[in-house]
Amino acid sequence: MKKAFITGITGQDGSYLSEILLDKEYEVHGTVRRSSSINTDRIDNLISKYSKEGQLNLHYSDLSDPTSLDNLLKKIEPDEIYNLGAQSHVHVSFLNPLYSSQTSVSGVVSLLESVKNLDKEIKFYQASSSEMYGGASGDLLDENSIFDPKSPYAAAKVYAHNLTKIYRESYGLFCVNGILFNHESPRRGETFVTRKITRAVTRISIGLQEKLTLGNLDASRDWGFAKDFVEGMYLMMNYKEADDWVLATGETHTVRDFLKIAFDYFSLNWEDYVLTSDRYIRPNEVNHLLGNPSKAKDKLGWEIKTSFEELVKLMVESDLELAEKEKVLYENGMLKPTWEYPSSS
Ligand code: NAP
Ligand code: GDD
Repeated sequence: MKKAFITGITGQDGSYLSEILLDKEYEVHGTVRRSSSINTDRIDNLISKYSKEGQLNLHYSDLSDPTSLDNLLKKIEPDEIYNLGAQSHVHVSFLNPLYSSQTSVSGVVSLLESVKNLDKEIKFYQASSSEMYGGASGDLLDENSIFDPKSPYAAAKVYAHNLTKIYRESYGLFCVNGILFNHESPRRGETFVTRKITRAVTRISIGLQEKLTLGNLDASRDWGFAKDFVEGMYLMMNYKEADDWVLATGETHTVRDFLKIAFDYFSLNWEDYVLTSDRYIRPNEVNHLLGNPSKAKDKLGWEIKTSFEELVKLMVESDLELAEKEKVLYENGMLKPTWEYPSSS
């Protein structure tokens, strides 16, 4: 039985990756941050199914704590490490620049040093990001495109990406960088734009919310389905050699396009409900991202199974179920309809 160690197991990607690895009979170990309220909702179904027999194991840790990570790696002796943990919200990284940077930077140094010192056979995956490109050119971006980070988040990801490559080249470690373009799902955090839209439109459609306030509607992203992308992580780690890989759909769409499809589902005109505010405008914006996944398709056999339109639909349908459950709480007087669902970024 192979053992995987995942930082960020409680996040969107960590939950999908755990499902894949548990299904492949891995023993999975994940780090959780201590918080005042329980933060394992994305993996609660996996905890019930797999933790009793010890196939899924959670450990308190934090990427800012090298000793804790090193102790865990010594104890677990994993075959593979997936470093998915990060303060992953780009706008928040402008508001908490040091914390956001330190999480990514300190985590990658600590983990790579531990691998180098403990066991050079351990494979290492780093969650790199299309944000590193900066999005100023209209180019189709691939593994050879230039990085031009526009936020503290992206600058720290460039550091982590470079360090992963440096440890691969300097010490012969199996270190992989997955440069993933935006990927979304019903498990996406609610302050990322796609989920903010699908939560809002479904609540609006049944009378629980009046308006939705957003920032830059002209931004365009290469949006795919998280489950498809996480399958790509597994393929990268099982390829014959470690490398840098772009995962993207090869299509780009604006926030307006996303709004139109989501509101059309309910035959609503998005312009009647959407406001804009400077509150959601970033100090520096990544305007346009479009990736070229040819290398991953050709060498890994990786493929996109879910189109942009299908992604919007599956997120809307999942959030509609959630909104209908919330409606019951409203009808029982336990919640009150709002102008807008609370949202901070
Ligand atoms: P996410 O849902 O925000 O999950 C982030 C995970 O990191 C959560 O488990 C979070 O724990 C954990 N975390 C945050 N701060 C930490 C710390 N100081 N120490 C340890 N763990 C910490 O992000 P995601 O969408 O799954 O993305 C996974 C990774 O891929 C991230 O590194 C992200 O930057 C990168 N990425 C994402 C995308 C995308 O489109 N989704 C694209 C490219 C790259 P809590 O649950 O306690 O908050
Ligand atoms: N979050 C948010 N909220 N974004 C908005 C809003 C809003 O109200 N209105 C417009 N946007 C625009 C942002 O300005 C940005 O251009 C775009 O929508 C996407 O924003 P996010 O969904 O927050 O994602 P992101 O592209 O900044 O970052 C995500 O993708 C990266 C990969 O490119 C995150 O998952 C990062 O962790 C990831 O690395």
